[in-house]
Amino acid sequence: MLDVYLVRINQDLAENDFTRLLRYAAPEKKERILRYHRREDAQRSLVGDILARYAICKRLGVSNAALAIGQNEYGKPLLLKPTGIHFNISHAGEWVACAVADSPVGIDIEPLKPVDYKLAESFCAKEEYLFLQQQPEETRLKHFYHFWTSKESYVKADGRGLSLPLASVTAAANCSYFTAELDNYILSICVLSPA
Ligand SMILES: CC(C)(COP(=O)(O)OP(=O)(O)OC[C@H]1O[C@@H](n2cnc3c(N)ncnc32)[C@H](O)[C@@H]1OP(=O)(O)O)[C@@H](O)C(=O)NCCC(=O)NCCS
Repeated sequence: MLDVYLVRINQDLAENDFTRLLRYAAPEKKERILRYHRREDAQRSLVGDILARYAICKRLGVSNAALAIGQNEYGKPLLLKPTGIHFNISHAGEWVACAVADSPVGIDIEPLKPVDYKLAESFCAKEEYLFLQQQPEETRLKHFYHFWTSKESYVKADGRGLSLPLASVTAAANCSYFTAELDNYILSICVLSPA
């Protein structure tokens, strides 16, 4: 089963709400959040952590105090206790998104901002790049971000993040992809097949 949670933040959290939510985060996460220079980055990261905790507690029927969240060597947050489910977080602009699944999962949300399509050459396979070039202008941007977010969701599900070159990610047989559009954003999720 895949659960997806989304929160839209269209204004700054009040100082007391920020402080109150910070109490639910693990000490190392709290430190990282407080190191952000920009308030909006700290806020997105905090809301992502709280959203993941909420989603996991709801799925497992446990309290936040029962959760131990650590991270792998590439920085992917992992549920250490209780075991058995997986989650991932993404944040961009006003959106914070979290996916919870029974096997490793990755999520990526991006705003549909204009791009230089040449960038696609660096992360797409030859056939994908060719496909993009053949698309009419009206739909090319969505295809570009579909490729981008799908590949990023894969490297996040894998856990190695961008240390795994996006160009090396092509339609993999060992996972399922889901994509959705929200206003001017696109969201992709990759769930790896259970081992
Ligand atoms: C993870 C990564 C793909 C993020 O991409 P992005 O589009 O900028 O950001 P997103 O909003 O989609 O995702 C950010 C969230 O992904 C999660 N994340 C971090 N590292 C991750 C990884 N390796 N795999 C999956 N998820 C990861 C975190 O929850 C992070 O939120 P936080 O910064 O608030 O803690 C990219 O930063 C990356 O590859 N990092 C790993 C780099 C690395 O090798 N680090 C090693 C030393 S720690």
